[in-house]
Amino acid sequence: MTLCIGLTGGIGCGKSTVADMFAKLGAAIIDTDVIAHRLTQANGVAIPTIRSAFGNACIKDDGALDRDKMRGLIFSDTAAKQRLELILHPLILEQARTQLQQLLASPYVIIVVPLLPDSPAFQQLVQRILVVDCTEESQVSRVIGRSSMSEAEVRAVIAQQTPRADRLKLADDVIHNDNGMDSLSAQVAALHQRYLNGRLESFDGTTGTTN
Ligand SMILES: Nc1ncnc2c1ncn2[C@@H]1O[C@H](COP(=O)(O)OP(=O)(O)OP(=O)(O)O)[C@@H](O)[C@H]1O
Ligand SMILES: [Mg+2]
Repeated sequence: MTLCIGLTGGIGCGKSTVADMFAKLGAAIIDTDVIAHRLTQANGVAIPTIRSAFGNACIKDDGALDRDKMRGLIFSDTAAKQRLELILHPLILEQARTQLQQLLASPYVIIVVPLLPDSPAFQQLVQRILVVDCTEESQVSRVIGRSSMSEAEVRAVIAQQTPRADRLKLADDVIHNDNGMDSLSAQVAALHQRYLNGRLESFDGTTGTTN
């Protein structure tokens, strides 16, 4: 059976960067952020349901989800956030499953799932969990550098996400991302070899060795 690894981590920890590095080494990647984006673009599968649940105001003229408006709405309204998740998560899961079926010839598949700690269904889908971990300070400075979010906004998102320590408890493997790109790619290369060779003792990138 194809080894399926769930890649997760907090905002700005480096999930997409790590996934790109695995992809360059030839790994098959499923990205649930890409799936979610596609579901909510113009004519996306989720748009009719979102429109009837939230009204026309959150759909742009071109028929795509108004992401800024929705972000503002769900940030201050937990019930709305849950309503959106109830629409999106089953669709994301279904499409991830479909993509996985098409990748069964690959030696291993990495599924990028930011919501993995909150999703028993995704935890069941994967055989292994890889957490990309870094300090909150690294998260804040990287996300500020990348986007228009303020420090306060980034810290508020971090506060809403699963706490770092709880996320780490779920991990079979940990990539530490506080030490620059060379360290990051060395850890990815080491894990790639392990996944290819079916060496499935747990990996901690601080030491590069088995726990
Ligand atoms: N080791 C590193 N050194 C310097 N910059 C980094 C490092 N790792 C990631 N970055 C940068 O930090 C930013 C966040 O990384 P990335 O987008 O991979 O995180 P992410 O976990 O996918 O974030 P999100 O939760 O928003 O999807 C990017 O601009 C990326 O280029
Ligand atoms: Mg990302």
